[in-house]
Amino acid sequence: MTDTYSLQQYVNDLKEITGETADEKEIIGRVGPLAERLVADKSWLQQKYYETDEEQGFGVHLLHEEPDHTLAVLIVNWLPGRGTPPHDHGTWAVVAGVEGTERNIRYKRLDDGSRPDHAELGVKKDFKADAGDVVAIKTGGIHAVVNETDRITLSLHTYGKHINYTNRSQFNLETNEKKEYIVRVE
Ligand SMILES: [Fe+2]
Repeated sequence: MTDTYSLQQYVNDLKEITGETADEKEIIGRVGPLAERLVADKSWLQQKYYETDEEQGFGVHLLHEEPDHTLAVLIVNWLPGRGTPPHDHGTWAVVAGVEGTERNIRYKRLDDGSRPDHAELGVKKDFKADAGDVVAIKTGGIHAVVNETDRITLSLHTYGKHINYTNRSQFNLETNEKKEYIVRVE
């Protein structure tokens, strides 16, 4: 595609899609190709999106959210050798690779979910996502992201709702503890 596709057009399309359907599978199916299109042309990319957070292991930059925190678009940069604990999002997620290769580990719940602070996880899928690849995760899906390369990687994350407002969880694989997961956003 030769015509440029701006962040604003992307946000307009997100609003149109979610205005037309509440079906999460359909939303993800329609948002994925648009996210892929947005990351194909990086004219919107700014140097500040590389500013990272040593303590957290990754830097999060908010590009857009609606006043009610829905339709959040974020850039996440990942420091070499760093990543996230296993976590869910409390909403749907579409992640498109911008730069570098990120390892994605998908988990399934092995317990019955009857204890609120407890979760047992097993690996479901372990794969690498390159620049231009799109990873879609339904509400409730659990994954971890790791940058195993020696350079900062960058990805564009779109969520049904800003992940700090969804009451989502992080999971400890050693202790099976499940607790709140809030990230620092620039
Ligand atoms: Fe995630």
